[in-house]
Order: sequence, then C-alpha cells, then structure tokens
Amino acid sequence: MAGDGLDAIFSPRSIAIVGASRHPGKIGYEILRNLIVNEYQGILYPVNPNAKGIHGIRAYPSILDVPEPVDLAVITVPADFALEAAEACGKKGVKGLVVITAGFREVGGVGIEREARLLALCHEYHLTMIGPNCMGVINTHPDVRMDATFAPTPPLRGGISLVTQSGALGIAILEHAKTLGVGFAKFCSLGNKAQVSLNDLLQMWRGDPDTKIILAYIENFGNPKNFVQIARATTKDKPIIAVKSGRSEAGSRAAASHTGSLGGSDLAAEAVFAQTGVLRAASIEELFDLAMAFSLQPLPRGNRVAIVSDAGGPAIMCVDELVAHGMRLAELTPSTQAFMRSWAPPEASLRNPIDLTPQGSLEDYRRALDAVLSDDGVDAAIAIYVPPVRVDEVDVARAVWQSAKDHAKPVLCNFLGRSENSPGFVELVSHSVPSYLFPESAARSLAAMYRYAQYRDREEGELRTFSVNRTKAETILDRVVREGRLLLRGDEAGAVLEAYGIRTAKTRIVRRIEDLGRTAEEIGYPVVLKAVGPEILHKSDLQAVQLGIQTEKQLVDAASAMEHRLRDRRITVEGFLLQEFVRGGMEIILGMARDKVYGPFLVFGLGGIYVEYLKDVSFGLPPLTDRDARRMIESIRTYPILRGVRGEPPRDVTAIEEAILRLGALVSDFDSIQELDLNPVLALEEGHGYRVVDARILLRRPSREEADLTDPSEPPSDR
Ligand SMILES: Nc1ncnc2c1ncn2[C@@H]1O[C@H](COP(=O)(O)OP(=O)(O)O)[C@@H](O)[C@H]1O
Ligand SMILES: [Mg+2]
Repeated sequence: MAGDGLDAIFSPRSIAIVGASRHPGKIGYEILRNLIVNEYQGILYPVNPNAKGIHGIRAYPSILDVPEPVDLAVITVPADFALEAAEACGKKGVKGLVVITAGFREVGGVGIEREARLLALCHEYHLTMIGPNCMGVINTHPDVRMDATFAPTPPLRGGISLVTQSGALGIAILEHAKTLGVGFAKFCSLGNKAQVSLNDLLQMWRGDPDTKIILAYIENFGNPKNFVQIARATTKDKPIIAVKSGRSEAGSRAAASHTGSLGGSDLAAEAVFAQTGVLRAASIEELFDLAMAFSLQPLPRGNRVAIVSDAGGPAIMCVDELVAHGMRLAELTPSTQAFMRSWAPPEASLRNPIDLTPQGSLEDYRRALDAVLSDDGVDAAIAIYVPPVRVDEVDVARAVWQSAKDHAKPVLCNFLGRSENSPGFVELVSHSVPSYLFPESAARSLAAMYRYAQYRDREEGELRTFSVNRTKAETILDRVVREGRLLLRGDEAGAVLEAYGIRTAKTRIVRRIEDLGRTAEEIGYPVVLKAVGPEILHKSDLQAVQLGIQTEKQLVDAASAMEHRLRDRRITVEGFLLQEFVRGGMEIILGMARDKVYGPFLVFGLGGIYVEYLKDVSFGLPPLTDRDARRMIESIRTYPILRGVRGEPPRDVTAIEEAILRLGALVSDFDSIQELDLNPVLALEEGHGYRVVDARILLRRPSREEADLTDPSEPPSDR
C-alpha cells in the first residue's frame, strides 16, 4: 500500500498545493513557482480561499472544490490549519500527502498530539504521507519533472536519489552537487517520518530503474531490523552511500565487561553498515567525493591501481592512502614500460607511480595514461596533475577524459589545489571524470568503489541452524534470576555456553579446599585455580587466578594463600573454580552487547586483556550467515596473526566461525542476556578448535512486572 502511495507522490498526474500563496518568500509561493518554472508535466491546482488565481493559474478555495482527481497534495498551511487541510485531502480521495508544515512532534507538547492526529487521519483515509516538517520531494524524470521543494534551483538530472532526515542539509547537498556535475533522479526530505520512513524509500528506490545510486543522510535507522534487511537486498543491485550523524547509546552503561566498555560510541551503527554493504561516508564532504566517483565512473574489477603524475610528492601521498584502504599498486608489464621509455623524458620515473616530471609534455601525459589503462595488470587509474604555468589545465583535463572514455576502467583525477570553480575541474566533471582537490580524496573514493564491488560480488552465505539444548540454558538462567542475581558464576556461564555447543575448558566448582585434590584428579593436571565470590569480577587484578598448577600440594597451598589474601581485603570467597589448563592457545575475545536501538550485536577481536586498548574488533548483527561470521573474523587488522606469523601455526578459524554463529543463536534466543563476554577464548591450532576459559554473562535487570512473577518465597537453590 505504501508503495502505491509513494508512486502517487513521486509520479503524480496532478498536484494540489494547499496553501499556495501570491507572496514571494512564502513557502506556498516558492513551491508553486518551482513546480511551474521547472516545467512539471502534470496539472497543478493551487488551493487558497483568498485568491482567485496564483501565478496565472486558477485557484480553488478548498481542495474539495477541485473538479478533477488529485494524486498528490502538498500541504504548506500553518500548523493550526494542517489537520483540517489533511482531512479535506482525505475526503477528496487524494493518494499522497507531502506535509511541509512544521509544528508537530519536533516542537513537543501540542505538536506531539497534533502529529498523532495527523497520522490517524492518514490511516482513516488511506493516505500515504511524507513529513510533516519536511522540505518536499523531487522527481527529475522527463515525464514528470516535479520539483515540489523550495530549493533555489533545480538539480541536474542524473542517476542519484537522495533521501535526507535533514531537509536543509538535503537542499544544500542538491545545490553543491550541481557544481560537481552530479545529477539526481529523485529527492526526498523525510521530515519527522511520522509515516513514510527511510526504509520505505529504500524499498521503493531499490526497484526504481532511474535510481542508480542512493545517497542518504541518516540520523537514526528507525527500525534497524528492517533497515538491515532492505539495505542488504538493495546494495546487491545499487550502492547506498550514507552519512550517519548522532551516536547510539550502547546497551550497558555499567560496562561490567570488556565488550561493554568497547560499546558506548557508534559501534552498533558500524555493525549495521558493515553487514549491509552500505558505504559510510565520514563527512558530508566525503559523501560528495563518493557520489561523484560512483555516479561518473564504472566500478573497478580489481584493486590494482596505476598512478600517472607530473610530480612525485602527491603521487606518494596517493599511494599511501590507497594502500591504507586495501588497494595495491599495479605492476606494469615490461612492454608497457618499454613503450613509455621510447618517448618519455629521461628524468621520468616509469615504474608505477609514474612521474613524468614537469618536463613531460601534454602528449606524454596523454600517452602515459592511455598506456597504463591498456595494461591488463591495471584495474583503475588515478591521474594526478600539479598545474604548472606553461600548460593550459583545460588541455590536460581534455587529455584525461579522452583517454578515460576509451577504457572501461575507472579513472579519477586530482588536479592539485583545483576545485569547483577552476576550468580544468569543470572540463573534467562535465566529461564524467571526477576530480578532487587532493590526492587522498581520489584514493579513498576509488577504494570505496572497490569495496562496494567486492561486497556486491561476494557470496551471501547461509543462515545455519544448530541443535542446541535450549531448556538447559533456560533452567540455569531462570535459577539465577530467582536467586536475585544478575551475574552468572563462571561455572553457570560455562554450562549455558556448553548447552549451545560452545566449547569451554573443563571446569568444576569446588566449595571446600579439602575437595580440590579429588576434583583436580578428575580434570587432570596441570590445572588452573580461580577464586569465586560476588565481588570477584576481574580476577587477575585481585590475584585470584593461578595458572599451571602441577600437584595437589601446590593446589592446596595456592588455594589457601588466595583465600587469605582475599579475606584480608574483606573480599568474600565462596569457593573455587578448577579448570583444565589450556596450553598454546591464542587469546581472542567474543562478546555481545545489547544496544537500545539495534538490539544485540556481537563483537570479535584478538588480544584478550589488551582488547580495550587495541580496539581491533569487528561487529556483527544477528542473524548472521556463515559468511558474515567469517568476515567478522577476517576484517580485524590483526587477522594475519590468527593465520600464523613468524612460524606460528594457523588457528582454527572454522571453529571460531561456528562459535560466533552459536553465540548469535544464544543471544537471539534469550533476551534476558544483557551482556556477554568470553575473554579470553583460547584459539587452538587448526583442527583443534578453541576453549572458552573465562565467561561472563550478565542478565538484564527485570522490569517491575517481571519481577513480580518470580516467587520470592522460593528458597535459593543449592549453592
Ligand atoms: N584455563 C586456562 N588455561 C590457560 N590460560 C588461562 C586459563 N584460564 C585463564 N587463563 C589465563 O589467565 C588470564 C586471566 O584469567 P581469566 O579467567 O580471564 O580472569 P580475569 O579476566 O577475570 O582476570 C586469561 O586471560 C588467560 O590468559
Ligand atoms: Mg578474562
């Protein structure tokens, strides 16, 4: 239904402007004027009770007086009259509303109630509504040509569709895009998103043949689960480039775990982007950089880049930035190099990056670019040019775009220090070659194109299901809740993990020192001893961990020493965990935190106790496919260490991948788990799996109603 309504909004055969005005400066004036000046192809009906005609078009006192059907009504009347206007539209049988009027939820108080009533009217009359408090919509298709905004000038026609949560920013983007030669198919300012959401727009544009690239300015995802699903499906066909402002508040403030302390910034949003293939621009500036590259050039087939330059410095800066973003310098074939040697100036350096030096002529520059683009070992080129005085930059620009157009490989340009107003820049972008002020921007934009191409071509993977013992996990969690605790003991956490097939080191809880020896025999020496008690959180800090204990005597001595030390500091010791000593594992962390907005997200990283400092972690949002889990592992910087460096054996990545998936199943099954931290997990050699040696599971504080359901008279079970 939203789909039909959206079609009526973006391709209306007729539009009523409710609140059309004769007074320049009023929104009802500007919108009608924009529709007329930009040659809207349908029929316009100005609605204004006090005017017979506006801009020479007959006006109607009420939309109900319009003699023909109306597809779209743009409402610009003051807030006090907006509901009445919307209701009249409903009675008229209008399909879509764009409510420009402000004074709704964004002002609080009466505005909130007003918005609720507006929404109720939309439901009652089956109206699809964009806004309120928005800046309007645009469709540049030649059959429609609708500019229902109050932007000062219309955008160029092109393949980009822009959806924005900030109308003013959206209009500024349209304005600036013009100077960059970037054109638009559709534009939508969402306003308060009372009804039509970002997700609805993505859904629509996914199937829109005019939309080749989607740009989004996002403040929040609305329904993140839907966003993930829709964005994921969309990025398979077309890129989504987004700027996201604002920070999401990660699940736990208390940060009882490493995973918790890693959260708190924008991490859940990062996980959303990583998993959906949506490209995140760090700034509005970068949004433009990427929009220009994606809209003007084809995607690279690989990451091998050639650089042609007339100066060494910027070429080296460019190489550094390329490499930092996962690109490589192409190896030119001997024949390409020999060919260039036959005409290039003797001072030129002809190994990639090619530096023709200022001695290189215009013709040299053109031939060099053409030669590298013809080389099979090159997937893309960056043309760098530091404009000297003696050559006209427009001639160089022409040489660049002429070479570029003969090849199906992307070419990006950096005319150092030349921006929108320079003649060389204009020459380039008007011939579909993006040009950047600095070499790094060209490098980053090209890398983003490659990242997207890779994402698009990757395998989706499968959603695997595992046989797990849910009842067992449930029983343990219920018991902890009944006992009024939030934190599971190490042995309980281990048992929950085992119920979900996550391998833990063999662990037993022992109450009395006299029983330690017998249990250690069962586990087998060497063993690890850890003290257990309600205040014992970070065990190492309290010297409450003893590794590699070989004999019963050592064990008993260690236990009594530990107990005394802790008691001296008035820390209660309830017992001990005895654990198998796992040798030769590489320390990794697996965790989960719950974000208020996004729900659970998983964390993977290398480094055990240093993880907070290294911040080398990756995120995933369940449900994860096996490929998603694999990507989480492969995307950390230190992944090569896991694959084995300096003669160390490779670790069992396949088993870790499965652990991530099983963890995803666990946290999806139990909402009550607020935070989970497996740190460390010891990753063993390939084929030997891994062992969790320290698990912390924190439960959500039950709400008042839930708390009442648990029976306080029930005695705590055996500790
Ligand atoms: N069973 C074990 N086998 C091998 N090493 C272990 C084992 N348990 C703990 N360790 C090592 O001791 C460190 C601290 O133990 P841990 O149980 O994680 O305590 P905490 O994180 O509370 O300080 C771990 O990071 C790990 O390096
Ligand atoms: Mg630990």
